[in-house]
Amino acid sequence: MHTLVADTSEQLSQLGADLVARTLAERPAAALLVATGNTPMGMYQELARRRADGLLDASQARVFQLDEYVGVPEDDVRSLYGWTRRSFVDPLGIPLEQVTRLMADGGDLQASCQAYDERVAAAGGIDLAILGLGPNGHLGFNEPPCAADAPTRLIDLTPESVVSNAVYWGGEDQVPRQALTAGMNVIMQARHIVLVVSGAHKQDILARTMHGPVTPDIPSSFLQLAPNVTIVVDRSTITSTSQPSVSHAT
Ligand code: GLP
Repeated sequence: MHTLVADTSEQLSQLGADLVARTLAERPAAALLVATGNTPMGMYQELARRRADGLLDASQARVFQLDEYVGVPEDDVRSLYGWTRRSFVDPLGIPLEQVTRLMADGGDLQASCQAYDERVAAAGGIDLAILGLGPNGHLGFNEPPCAADAPTRLIDLTPESVVSNAVYWGGEDQVPRQALTAGMNVIMQARHIVLVVSGAHKQDILARTMHGPVTPDIPSSFLQLAPNVTIVVDRSTITSTSQPSVSHAT
């Protein structure tokens, strides 16, 4: 695992954006797995600024939604597809035909997961997975306990995730209890994984992610086994237990 430490939130956004920009420069039609959550929003805004300044062309990128609540229609403010569009797809000018959704508002959810995995396979796998870190070590909604090769599937949210997601929607009663998530296997097979982490409340889970035992109880600990992982983190989140593998951003 390679770690980039940012001194400011602006630098965190820059470092994350640099990694996406590099992927797109090397492969304009790269397949990107794109997280919602608060942490990567500054980085997405930075990408949009670069596009507006003519420094970035993401028009050929293929976007894969990371996770979606079950039973939430597209026009509901809680739709994670809607959030992905508002924060990433639309500001970067990516045509909707290049976006693969997790269809979770009715219908056959098992078939929906299978269709998603088929699209990932048809794209040749994910080039770059942009992830946040759940407080219980979930990636997407791969809730613990989770196998390293868990497929794209229906998940019951853990109580901890209901609490962490309540900050987005104004209360626990607003948080759907089930979701579809891109499988841990989709994440682990990505050619490059960027994990963006910010905030003192993530210190402990980040230390476990990087240096704790590799265990289904902390799904993010499987990243220790993935071939190409970059952790972009702010200084306040790096603890003394995380320090040994740190290389400082310049
Ligand atoms: C949420 C989502 C993840 C997200 C993570 C971290 O529950 N399921 O996709 O990456 O938790 O969110 P945040 O960046 O807001 O801390």
